[in-house]
Amino acid sequence: KKVLVINGPNLNMLGIREPGVYGTVSLSVIIQGLTELAEVLSVEIESFQSNHEGHIIDKIHEAFGTKDGILINPGAFTHYSYAIRDALSSVQLPTVEVHLSNIHKREEFRHHSVTAPVVIGQISGFGVQSYELGLRALLTHMQ
Ligand code: DQA
Repeated sequence: KKVLVINGPNLNMLGIREPGVYGTVSLSVIIQGLTELAEVLSVEIESFQSNHEGHIIDKIHEAFGTKDGILINPGAFTHYSYAIRDALSSVQLPTVEVHLSNIHKREEFRHHSVTAPVVIGQISGFGVQSYELGLRALLTHMQ
């Protein structure tokens, strides 16, 4: 099985960016840990990060026919990108949405996710563990 892991805007700044909210772990360390977990779970992961909406959409389209599922942290696009939502619903791949922070206890504009209605489920608020829980949940769903 193959899973595409997508990280949206500003997630390349993890470790530096608002450590009180997002922690001190860099994205590359998160991906390293996720790759180790993926090996244990016998799944292949490809990791992609972009700050550009269109690039994320292209990558989602590419996953059609080549990947079995998507794990995505859309960053701020979560709250307003109808285009990413439509891309996810176009490819019809099982998808789990993850967030490091608990978006529901932050600013009002973060409470709504436009992508949530087109994914299996959302995991929010567990820091790095959100990704691990998300990957496990996605695989359980894919089996
Ligand atoms: C985030 C939450 C979003 O509101 C924010 O814009 C991010 C990161 C998270 O992982 O907690 O960039 O998706």
